[in-house]
Amino acid sequence: MILPDTPATDDGLLTRILSGPPIPRHVAIIMDGNGRWAERRGLPRTAGHRAGVTAVKHVVTAAAQANVEALTLFTFSVDNWGRPKREISAIMQLLYETTKNELREMADKNIRLIATGDIEGLPLTRRRALKEAIRKTSDNTGLVLNLALNYSGRAEILHAVRRVARAVLARELRIDDIDEPTFAAHLQTNGLPDPDLLIRTSGEQRLSNFLLWQTSYTELYVTDTLWPDFGKDDFFRAILDYQSRERRFGRVSPSRS
Ligand code: FPP
Repeated sequence: MILPDTPATDDGLLTRILSGPPIPRHVAIIMDGNGRWAERRGLPRTAGHRAGVTAVKHVVTAAAQANVEALTLFTFSVDNWGRPKREISAIMQLLYETTKNELREMADKNIRLIATGDIEGLPLTRRRALKEAIRKTSDNTGLVLNLALNYSGRAEILHAVRRVARAVLARELRIDDIDEPTFAAHLQTNGLPDPDLLIRTSGEQRLSNFLLWQTSYTELYVTDTLWPDFGKDDFFRAILDYQSRERRFGRVSPSRS
């Protein structure tokens, strides 16, 4: 079954989330550790990516259950092209299979698929399947599932700078009117709120060129769990941790003012 409705092992976690402080509107995830997961089992790295897709399904289901509005998954970075050819094609094949096989389930769950990154740089058949899934889910009103593909945060910012410069040259925009919301509207993530929570699995503590503009005030949550082992309960625990934090956005706590 696709995007399985696997029960969380601890149903109380979801109840606590839903009855607690505001949930993050947008959760972004750096899904790391597929390779190590496989290597520890004496399996090829590609087996780790396949197991990673199962984790994706669980987390997408969990995000929808928790009423998260948008979930962005760092699926393939511009730098990932430097990996062995076999590994790249395995990831592209998984993307292809998943976008094709999960269409029905995404429709049933009212999920809208979108993508961020240089999609035109993906292999043709993969790109076509992705675009078809994006088109077929475009009227869905539930969770927005955003796959960051062939993505680079710096490239996205440069792309936005060029778009803004063109608008200035065309006299559609005045230099003095370029403020943060105007600039953000030229990013590919236009329309999505900035991520409230960024989860990174496998213990690494870095951003890896992911959503550099958008994560200015994002809460970070790093877990040692490798991505294929990351399940619904892990996702719910990350949200509970977020709900326990005080977000000050550079200001002081109201209790101290
Ligand atoms: C990072 O682990 C993972 C990736 C670069 C690929 C993520 C891809 C998937 C989970 C599969 C496709 C997903 C979808 C949504 C269809 P790593 O290989 O860098 O792990 P390591 O650091 O242990 O080597």
